[in-house]
Amino acid sequence: MDFGLIGKRALVTGGSHGIGLATAIALAREGCDVAICSRSDDRLAYAREVLQPFQREVIARPCDVHSGESIQAFCTEVIGTWGGVDILVNNVGGGGRWGLASVEDTDEKVWMDVYEKNALATIRFTTRMLPFMRAKKWGRVVTITSRLGREGGGRPWFNMAKAAQTSMMKCLGMNHDLAGDGITFNSIAPGNIMIPGTGWEDEMKRDPHGFQSYVAQECPLGRLGTPEEVAAVVAFICSEQAGLVNGAAIAVDGGESRAF
Ligand SMILES: NC(=O)c1ccc[n+]([C@@H]2O[C@H](COP(=O)([O-])OP(=O)(O)OC[C@H]3O[C@@H](n4cnc5c(N)ncnc54)[C@H](OP(=O)(O)O)[C@@H]3O)[C@@H](O)[C@H]2O)c1
Repeated sequence: MDFGLIGKRALVTGGSHGIGLATAIALAREGCDVAICSRSDDRLAYAREVLQPFQREVIARPCDVHSGESIQAFCTEVIGTWGGVDILVNNVGGGGRWGLASVEDTDEKVWMDVYEKNALATIRFTTRMLPFMRAKKWGRVVTITSRLGREGGGRPWFNMAKAAQTSMMKCLGMNHDLAGDGITFNSIAPGNIMIPGTGWEDEMKRDPHGFQSYVAQECPLGRLGTPEEVAAVVAFICSEQAGLVNGAAIAVDGGESRAF
């Protein structure tokens, strides 16, 4: 299937690792130029190397999404170089393991930090990138949320922040003005994804037996997902063929979630 993405420009936040890097690769493979940001220069350098074989333009710059100024500086550079982007993937997020099991002993700052990293970052990038999409009468905004943005079960600050992102994509998708300008808004809700060097791998090493029982109980496929499996769905949602998919919250979780 031809996704119709050759020559499109895509910004993937947190595009230097995990789902973000897999998404940047999937979009570059489809012919997109990609702009990525994250905090670590080493990760950005690695991502640039991995993206190089696709022979597309790559902008890779440090940015910390906890800082409005840092987001503004990165967006200004992308807009200054390309005028804007056709595709925005709000991937940065997390905080599902932050705070304490005890809600009353968890500092209020955790709630704010998790909201900032997930929801506020999505608001900041999306509002800055919309004018170019509007002018071109075409755009795709995809936000990586979580199955926990659609159901209970996690730490509340994380569920709330992911639910806020999910709700934002739905509300913008229902906005006739934006839809009339050819822009779609969707969220992708991954289940548990195995990413080297992050939480699940640490868990598997720390307690292999506990990890196996968790997988056997919670994951119908008997395994965790891969970043590439999530990225493949993101790439499709960004395609010309997915024009009717708008305001959707799409589970990519191997059947793990309880929500319909
Ligand atoms: N993995 C899962 O099981 C899973 C499940 C459901 C949902 N998700 C969601 O999927 C998204 C991606 O998660 P992932 O597991 O792929 O994460 P990951 O492998 O840890 O990668 C996160 C990426 O974001 C960057 N990043 C982290 N904090 C940042 C900050 N403050 N400012 C800018 N960049 C930052 C990281 O680079 P630097 O460290 O260099 O900044 C890295 O490029 C998140 O929204 C997460 O909530 C993941």
